[in-house]
Parts: sequence; C-alpha cells; structure tokens
Amino acid sequence: MNTVVLNNPLIKHKLAIIRDKRTGTKEFREIIGEIATFLCYEAMSDAVLEEVEIETPICKTKAQKLDENKYAFVPILRAGTGMLDGLINAIPNAKIGHVGLYRDETTHKPVKYYYKMPQDIANREVIVLDPMLATGGSAYDTISMLKEDGVKKIKFLSIISAPEGIKKIEELHPDVKVYTACIDEKLNENAYIVPGLGDAGDRIFGTK
Ligand code: PRP
Ligand code: URA
Repeated sequence: MNTVVLNNPLIKHKLAIIRDKRTGTKEFREIIGEIATFLCYEAMSDAVLEEVEIETPICKTKAQKLDENKYAFVPILRAGTGMLDGLINAIPNAKIGHVGLYRDETTHKPVKYYYKMPQDIANREVIVLDPMLATGGSAYDTISMLKEDGVKKIKFLSIISAPEGIKKIEELHPDVKVYTACIDEKLNENAYIVPGLGDAGDRIFGTK
C-alpha cells in the first residue's frame, strides 16, 4: 500500500473531537491545522538534508538543514486552505499554488474553477492538501494537472480518507504517496465519507 496512515493516540483523540457534530468552527479549524502539521512532519520523513556548519553557545558543530525552497503546497479550495497554516508553520518558505474545485451535487464529479501555480512549480516537490479524500476525483484531477505542468514528485495529505479514494489514487497515480490521519469505512449514496465529519468546507468556514 502506497498510503501512510497516522497511528497515534493523540491524533485519534483529536479526530474524535472534529467528528463530533457539536464541535464549533474555532475548535474544528484549530484541530485541522494541528493534524495538518503532524501529517507534514510524517510526509517529510524522506527529505534529503544538507550538512551545514553552525556555532552553538558552546562550540562549533555540523548540523543538517532542509532546503525549504524546494517545496510547494497546493491546497484544493476551499477546504484544503484549512490545512495550509499547519504546513506553513512547518516549512515557512514553501511556495503556494491553488486549485479551485467543487463537486457537482448530482454526479459527484469535480468541476474546476481556478488554477494558479508558482512559475517554477515543475522544479518543486508538491504537497497537495485536502482534508477529505472521498471518491478521489478531486485528488486525481489535481495530481493530473500538476503532472501536466511537469511536476515530478507529488504527495497528498488528507485528514480523513475513504477506501474508494485511496484505491483510485493508488491505481491511477501509483507514484503519489498519500498521508492520512485515518481511513474510514465507506462512502454513502451522496459520496460522503462514513462516519466522516460531514462537509469539511462548511465546518471550517461556518457556511452551514
Ligand atoms: C470536498 C473536499 C474535497 C472533495 C472530496 O470539497 O474538500 O475537495 O469534496 O471529494 P472527492 O474525493 O469525491 O472528489 P467540496 O467539493 O465540497 O468543495 P469545498 O471544499 O469548496 O466545500
Ligand atoms: N467532502 C466532504 O467535505 N466530506 C465528505 O465526506 C466527502 C466529501
């Protein structure tokens, strides 16, 4: 399986809070950001570091640093932007692109309305953000657009995934690793994740 699932008691605790329909916008947003930071640390576990010389208050020493200019974050609008601060906290110098997609209510297929990437996107490792990986349509289309732009290394970060979405990405974009806080049971007849957390965009932005 080309998917990494966080297996951490504190993350499970935080997931229980955001799944609860009584949880308000403020706490929901904060926890989405916290889990996003944790996912980012996990996704960076294969990062190649550069050796540098530094001086601590005690002595000179060699240390290892990340070239932050090699990365770009791409949140899928709207809900993906809820994860963005959590990633910027971890890698402040990453560039940011945006993909605007919404799911058609009857077909459940993504409809594109915006696409804006940094000019040098093809030379960067791209980390795509979306809290919900449901049918996988939005993730699939975003990854395909990035590949058309010449991006070679792509990772996908989600808070909650459905088995159907994981399967789609593993089959159709096998080079893309998915990092998720959990894989739920299934999709319902409206292509919502069960048990899930409802509509992530509406809960982050308070639109319902
Ligand atoms: C949600 C979610 C994903 C997509 C997942 O967005 O944030 O982008 O659905 O579903 P999929 O895997 O079946 O494509 P939505 O279309 O509700 O838009 P929003 O973020 O603007 O609320
Ligand atoms: N989008 C959401 O926000 N939630 C789901 O469960 C599925 C798609």
